[in-house]
Amino acid sequence: MSMDYIPLAGVIGTSVVHSKSPRLHRYWLRRYGLRGDYVPLHVTDANLAQVVKTLPKMGFVGANVTIPHKVAAIELADQVSDRAILIGAANTLIFRDDGSVYADNTDGYGFTASLRQSAPGWQASNGPCAVLGAGGAARAVISSLIEAGATEVLLSNRTRPKAEALKTEFGSKVRVVDWVQAGNVLEDAATVINTTSLGMTGAAEFRVPLDGLRRGTVVTDLVYTPLRTTLLQQADAAGCITVDGLGMLLHQAVPCFERWFGKRPDVDDETRAAILG
Ligand code: ATR
Repeated sequence: MSMDYIPLAGVIGTSVVHSKSPRLHRYWLRRYGLRGDYVPLHVTDANLAQVVKTLPKMGFVGANVTIPHKVAAIELADQVSDRAILIGAANTLIFRDDGSVYADNTDGYGFTASLRQSAPGWQASNGPCAVLGAGGAARAVISSLIEAGATEVLLSNRTRPKAEALKTEFGSKVRVVDWVQAGNVLEDAATVINTTSLGMTGAAEFRVPLDGLRRGTVVTDLVYTPLRTTLLQQADAAGCITVDGLGMLLHQAVPCFERWFGKRPDVDDETRAAILG
């Protein structure tokens, strides 16, 4: 079948200049010899609805959605996946042939897929999961942990009411731990996840006491600039199994690429190198 257009995708947000997604999707397109392109799309709040209506008319097959449009994207879609509803935000739009817009969220999938790939044998049910932070990223992480069979999520956030709100939403498997006690739950945890911005280049330092970390605990950081955060370095030193945040970024893009361009792409060392290079 010959196509009379080049399928396009892109990332919609207000600070997309440094997004790694264009590089990733273009790398996969090249690697698999597929027609298509992926571009950063700077879109303000005021223009979001019009842009989402217009993109399908100019060859776009879909788009990723990032800050600050992840919640609004749900409202704009004609259909929304169950997992996007559960997370309360979408990171992916699919423009269907019939003109309708489907919203999905692959962040939680990317999170668990990354752990499964980089920490073989990892299971959400291996023991309590300690989640630091209660923002947008934490919602995706908690919902995917529970979906993957976590029996207990120990949730700690500087602003406690935000953690309490997530407990109300996600239910009795979530136990809120005061931020000043966050270090104390690490000893009981089989999995530790930092979803806060602490440790990111340009943000405040990660200061949760880590002496409770035990050998064999799986520790992952959603922060990937730098790749080896203070948390991951200290966890390495304590004999933990560490998984960096780049994996989640790469894996969340897999179902997007597959839906838009028709091929399920691989996440391997070559993919990582292409994005880091
Ligand atoms: P994201 O979508 O990446 O999760 P977010 O919704 O802005 O971004 O959430 C940022 C998270 O980092 C929050 O959990 C935030 O804690 P608060 O809810 O108390 O704001 C956390 N965070 C950011 N800066 C922090 C700091 N200096 N100390 C502790 N937590 C911090």
